[in-house]
Amino acid sequence: ATPPLPDLKALVRTVPDFPASGILFRDVTTLMADGAGLAGAIDALADLAAGLHVDAVAGIEARGFIFGAALAQKLGTGFVPLRKAGKLPVPTMGEDYALEYGEARLELDPAIIRTGHSVLLVDDLLATGGTALAGAQLLRRAGAQCTHAMFVIDLPDLGGMAALHEQGIEGRAVMA
Ligand code: PRP
Ligand code: HPA
Repeated sequence: ATPPLPDLKALVRTVPDFPASGILFRDVTTLMADGAGLAGAIDALADLAAGLHVDAVAGIEARGFIFGAALAQKLGTGFVPLRKAGKLPVPTMGEDYALEYGEARLELDPAIIRTGHSVLLVDDLLATGGTALAGAQLLRRAGAQCTHAMFVIDLPDLGGMAALHEQGIEGRAVMA
């Protein structure tokens, strides 16, 4: 008999007032720490990617690395890390962006991107979409095609899916 499917949504912890007062923080670490939850989330991401042509998966530091690398392995592709500022040992391309609570910068080593390859963007969570758009912009500047982005969690009130759509990116999420 197959084990029962985990309730993925119930495995996400909600923490009020982190990292700033008034923000209801969806904490995915509780889902990742659960074996069935982690496997279920990766399987669900792979289901969302079914039928897409994917040459590589790009994940956004930090939590996007965990889901992105696992999905890449499952799809049989390589993994492209989109890193926070100052981490890569080579000349990079960078994009500054605004977050729900602050500012940040993503960097990419363009040498690991093949021109014209379809790169699937993955992150743990979509809020305003600023982070994912910066990642997609970087991949495109480096010569990749980026037409799809996948998330474990979408916070629909923050409008990220529409922001992605405006830039020609179809976003998909395991749960909202
Ligand atoms: C979180 C989350 C996404 C981003 C979503 O990361 O993992 O990357 O915010 O927000 P947005 O859609 O409004 O841009 P965070 O910046 O907290 O970094 P971390 O993964 O390194 O903790
Ligand atoms: N959880 C995790 N990351 C986030 C959130 C959240 O609620 N909002 C913006 N980034």
